[in-house]
This record gives sequence, structure tokens and C-alpha cells, in this order.
Amino acid sequence: MNIAITKTAAPKEKPASDILGFGKYFTDHMFMMDYTAGEGWHNARIVPFGPIALHPASTVLHYGSEIFEGLKAYRRADGKVQLFRPLENIRRMNRSAERMCLPPIPEDVALQTLTEFVRLEQEWTPSAAGTSLYLRPFMFGNDETLGVHAVHNATYVIIASPVGSYYKEGINPVKIMIETEDVRAVRGGTGEAKCGGNYAASNRAGQRAEEKGYSQVLWLDGVERKYIEEVGAMNVMFKIAGEVVTPMLAGSILPGITRKSIIEVLKNEGIPVCERRISMEELAEAMENGTLEEAWGCGTAAVVSPIGELNYNGKQYAVNNGEIGPVTQHLYDTLTGIQWGKIEDTYGWTMEL
Ligand code: PLP
Ligand code: COI
Repeated sequence: MNIAITKTAAPKEKPASDILGFGKYFTDHMFMMDYTAGEGWHNARIVPFGPIALHPASTVLHYGSEIFEGLKAYRRADGKVQLFRPLENIRRMNRSAERMCLPPIPEDVALQTLTEFVRLEQEWTPSAAGTSLYLRPFMFGNDETLGVHAVHNATYVIIASPVGSYYKEGINPVKIMIETEDVRAVRGGTGEAKCGGNYAASNRAGQRAEEKGYSQVLWLDGVERKYIEEVGAMNVMFKIAGEVVTPMLAGSILPGITRKSIIEVLKNEGIPVCERRISMEELAEAMENGTLEEAWGCGTAAVVSPIGELNYNGKQYAVNNGEIGPVTQHLYDTLTGIQWGKIEDTYGWTMEL
């Protein structure tokens, strides 16, 4: 795919690494590509970062045809920049596209356009500890009609944002509220797709939790409201009586790439790990009787984030005395070590630009 490049006439000043936060600053350019049913994906271009003009009847504005991905570029100590498992994100994006009737992008085109864009913007990859360049590919339906149907026109965009830690707590344990009213997804719905609507629907519970001093909610299944699903922007894992357990993928939770990587690390190191249904009852019992040893969330933005407190029905449970546990710390060190090139990547997960 040929990419037309229009460079900005007004490069921005890069923010200092201590004020980055998450998703507040954006690089000088963005990647765009259009899809029509007749032409397929075409008009690949890198243009100055800026507003996107949309027809007021554009599908995305009315019916929410939107999917996105999130991955990071990491600056290594030798100055080179690398990506972490980018093909996993591309494959998941295409599965989300299939679910939302948006057009998939051939893997080679998606990888080529992503890497060429990041190469152009790579000087925006910060180098301070824990910082990275967050990449946000997204796709939306862009038919100029109010009819409800699978789209015939779509737009694909990649923007990039230099980021620090997702939570203000950094690697310090976060407090999580177990949500008992709203649900995020049901099997057969869109839970395993990374679509914007899942996040829009989760904001009400998230806001209620924040008002009570919690970072995010932990969702229960949408049918029986009995089984643990995932956190707002992370998958979740528990260490109960020596074994790491995490909800299995059954269609309603996001198949996280961090989750998948952690399971591979645990298996490789001989640490017991099991993907299965985990009921709230089982978790409550483990919290009560002290067999819940550690809990953490995992995701691209949040990396590995220890959970220091769980609130269920108004009852507060401290996990590991509100401190990061040894397995959580080990997984954090291993993943970030590979991602930032501080330890050898024996898994072949990183891709140098
Ligand atoms: N679950 C949800 C709802 C998410 O938004 C994310 C973040 O992408 C994850 C899980 C973790 O997925 P990944 O590890 O691929 O970033
Ligand atoms: C990510 O971890 O990449 C995410 O997409 C989380 C996001 C919703 C902030």
C-alpha cells in the first residue's frame, strides 16, 4: 500500500515526561485510510494531526459503528523503538470488525501502515521510565445515510499519544468496586469486541465508583450476575490458595493481549494458572478466609496493576494488606522488562521498528 505523506508545517513542542498522564497529548500527524465497498481500502495517507470532518448523517454518529485498538511503542535503553505483539492487535481489530460489520483490513496492510506511521512519529516516543507512545488505531462506519445496515463506507485512523501511567496511582495498588447493578456485556453481545459502545455503556457505573473513591469497576456476568468478568479497561487475575485464576474467554470479555501474555509467562515458569469461571461467591469466600493472596488487573494502558482493595456490596476487603504481591510484582517486572527491552525477549513478542 502506497502511503501519501503530508508533513505538518507547525511541529508541536513535546511535553515533559512528568506531565504526560494518559491520552492528553498527541503527536504531529495521524494516519488515515478510506474504505468503500467498490474500491476496498484505499487513499492511505499520513496527514497533520487535526479534526476529521464528518457528514451529519455519518453512521458512527447515530448507530455507533466504531471499533478501536490500543498498543504501545516503547523506547529501549539503546534508543531504538519497539512494538509489543502488534499482530495480536491487528487480528483482534479484524475480529471486532467482523462482529460490528465493519470491513477488515488485510493483516499485511494493517501492519505496514502501522509501522510506517510509528516510524514517522517515533521521536515522540518518550524515554523516561514507565513512559511510552500509546497507539490508538480506530475504525468507524461512515455512510452518509440514516438507514440502519452494515456499512459500505468506513474510515480507519491511527493517532498516537505519549503517555505515562494510566492510573494516578502508577504501580501502587488501585481500589476496585464490584458492580452489582449495571452489566457490561452478555454472551452473544459485543463484549469480546473492542467497540466504543461497550465503553459508553460502562461510564455510568464507572462514574458511581469514582465518586466513592474507586478507580474502576469489576463487572459481573450479565445473565446470572454471579461470575467475575473483567475490569473497565483491564482483564483481572487472582491468586487464590497458590493458584492464579482468571475468567475464561466465553464471548463477553475482551481477549486481552496482556492477559494472554501473562498466561504464557506463568505456564512457561511453571506457576499454576487456570482459565475458568470464578463466581463472586468463591471470591467473597477467598476474601473472607484469607486465601485470596493477590489480585491484579492487566492491560496495555494499565500494564499490570495491583488491586489493593475490593468493595462488594458496601463491604471493603483489603487484598494483601493493600500492598503489591510477589507474583504481581514479578509479572510487572517481566512484562515491562520485555516491553522496554530491559530483559531478553525469549518469547519473540517484540518488533523493532
Ligand atoms: N478489557 C478491557 C475492557 C479493555 O479495554 C482492555 C484494554 O485494552 C483490556 C481488557 C486489556 O486488553 P489488552 O491487554 O489487549 O490491552
Ligand atoms: C488499553 O489498555 O489499550 C485500552 O484500550 C484501555 C482504554 C480503554 C483506555
